Amino acid sequence: MLRIDILTLFPEAFSGYLEHSIIGRAVQRQVADVRLHNIRSFTHDRHHTVDDYCYGGGAGMVMKPEPLFEAVECLRGEIGADHCPVVLLTPGGRLFTQEIAGSYAALNNLIMICGHYEGVDERVAEHLVTDQVSIGDYLLSGGEPAAMVIIDSLIRLLPGAIGSETSLVEESHVGGLLEYPHYTRPPEFRGWKVPDVLLSGNHKEISDWRRRQSVLRTARRRPDLLGKAELTDTDLNLVKSTDLNNN
Ligand code: ADE
Repeated sequence: MLRIDILTLFPEAFSGYLEHSIIGRAVQRQVADVRLHNIRSFTHDRHHTVDDYCYGGGAGMVMKPEPLFEAVECLRGEIGADHCPVVLLTPGGRLFTQEIAGSYAALNNLIMICGHYEGVDERVAEHLVTDQVSIGDYLLSGGEPAAMVIIDSLIRLLPGAIGSETSLVEESHVGGLLEYPHYTRPPEFRGWKVPDVLLSGNHKEISDWRRRQSVLRTARRRPDLLGKAELTDTDLNLVKSTDLNNN
């Protein structure tokens, strides 16, 4: 079972998420073992100080190295693994992708550090962590929401976390394309109809339609993904012959 240890200043921030939702149920069913640790409990002064002024000046505080080193060393000892990856959540990290989620889901242990304030002392980044990850090009006030995003994306890859394995395979990003549109009943809602092909019962036509929708949607919304996706000649001709500015 994958064990995830999260070092945070706000363990309570995770409780609602880890107790409810699909991920909450997966955690309850012990698909993964998620443990929260308050960084403050690895301090030794009266005030439980976790941050300090920035050398060289500038606004904002920096997270001190000692509590983080102590916490990770303590966890490594407890886990007893030769190598335990340690991920720092930071807007300065490499961009998190489905591929990285897959590589984390294959691990036995993962320690995540949620940064705060202006950031963490660079010695943590250089000498303690094995990976630095950002969930997108925007600033969060702390790494906690990023850690939740990452936990969610990797727990759902674990065997037994969600219903069927095929639903994982077909979903957005896994094949390098965005997902095709989905519809459920009623067949007509406020005058908007479900595309006829989906009601036709013709599996070949349905899967061709879905493929075309995925390809065109990706070309319109995320042309940056097309370069990496595996496209057939039919897909390429479709992109070439379609006015991508029009629906
Ligand atoms: N901490 C602050 N912003 C972040 C981001 N975009 N990704 C990961 N951690 C963060």
